[in-house]
Amino acid sequence: MFSRDFAWGASTSAYQIEGGWQADGKGPSIWDTFCHEKGRVFEDQNGDVACDSYNLWEKDLECVQQLGLTHYRLSLSWARLLPDGTTQHVNERGVQYYNKVINDLLACGVSPMVTLYHFDLPQTLQDQGGWKSPGIALLFDNYAKFCFQTFGDRVKLWLTINEPNVCAKLGYEDGIHAPGLKEEGTSAYVVGHNMLRAHAMAWHSYNSLYRAKQKGAVSLTIYSDWLDPLDPGCSEDIGAAERALAFSLGWFAWPVFVSGDYPEIMRSAIDAESKRLGYSSASRLPCFSKDDPVILGTADFFALNYYTSRKVKPGGGCKQTLSMRSDKDSEEVLDSSWPICGVSWQAVVPHGLRNLLKYIKDTFSNPAVYITENGFSQVGPLHIEDVERCEFYKSTISEVDKAIQEDGVDVRGYFVWSLMDNFEWADGFGVRFGLFHVDFSDVALSRTIYQSGKEYAKIISKHKSCK
Ligand code: GAL
Repeated sequence: MFSRDFAWGASTSAYQIEGGWQADGKGPSIWDTFCHEKGRVFEDQNGDVACDSYNLWEKDLECVQQLGLTHYRLSLSWARLLPDGTTQHVNERGVQYYNKVINDLLACGVSPMVTLYHFDLPQTLQDQGGWKSPGIALLFDNYAKFCFQTFGDRVKLWLTINEPNVCAKLGYEDGIHAPGLKEEGTSAYVVGHNMLRAHAMAWHSYNSLYRAKQKGAVSLTIYSDWLDPLDPGCSEDIGAAERALAFSLGWFAWPVFVSGDYPEIMRSAIDAESKRLGYSSASRLPCFSKDDPVILGTADFFALNYYTSRKVKPGGGCKQTLSMRSDKDSEEVLDSSWPICGVSWQAVVPHGLRNLLKYIKDTFSNPAVYITENGFSQVGPLHIEDVERCEFYKSTISEVDKAIQEDGVDVRGYFVWSLMDNFEWADGFGVRFGLFHVDFSDVALSRTIYQSGKEYAKIISKHKSCK
């Protein structure tokens, strides 16, 4: 049984749904630039229009209401609010848009959870070095303060940066997300470092300037798979799984929740690999200095995005070039008993979420946890009667229930990714995660509830009526 104030939500992000990429004074973001380059995204699609939520917000609100959500997670487009990324120039039309969204939600009894940064850096800031430049932390802090000041009287749940671990790796190591850089074994660590500094500055600003009056809570969202040793009796596999967890969850959770610094296992693996390849003696993983904000303790709750699980064995490397993959020296594989849903990376493993929640409780001193994303992808032919996805939500929510009741994890909320089908980054519109289907071939971009949307609404209503 879930507590009376358990948050039942769904999530979206600005670039994936809003469209209006040049509307009313919005500045370009790195995702606008990236998608407009040929060959970056599936079929060269882009988020210029996406679900057109910039113009069709009322339709989204109808979906939120139809589901009976208690919470809706959205992100703000930095470049819509501050077109050049700085507070020198505020785009009032952008402020009006988000004011309307927030006010409409509250008028319907739905609490907004707001992410400040979900992958879409203003292009102007990218041109000045973006997340690789240390100065970005102060610019982010100014943006965060602007948002707290403008919306914080009504928004009580804030997330600074969505999945810094994914953002840094896919954008700067693999080059498959904006800004599309493939600078293996180096830049992702620098970017991650500046994201942590930026996050911590924003948290401290909230803490000292806004918390007393606004009484909200601030965290950052971390993506992680559940990672088990392939052979639980094999010490090499156990070591590989520990390294893999340190490089995914630990990279950001360790500094914030445990020690103010990166997991030791991560630094020693990176440094050993540098030594092996004769790279310079300075660690590729930056060190925090006394001039940096204090990182430890800068989260009021744990925000987790969980999608799938993996079994882990040693990477068996000895590559001749630097990469995060060789640093980590682990290989993550699927268990053949796990079904795959839509995208090839996503095995359906609801019990992995329970394991991960238990691990978070034990490792990070039993924090309050919000599952800020969890979902089931669909590709190929459209199935509005998505029976498998219905089962997925039922069993995942039952695993969350067990984590609370049997393992004592303090889970405060569960958010489905996503409210509706949308622009799935490099996969474009080819991958559907929605509780509502959006018909992108229809000029009206009509929204139709999936069977799984109805199922989720039923689950929510059942739990609400038990209060
Ligand atoms: C997350 C991301 C979302 C969404 C989801 C599904 O990593 O935060 O924006 O794309 O994955 O793949």
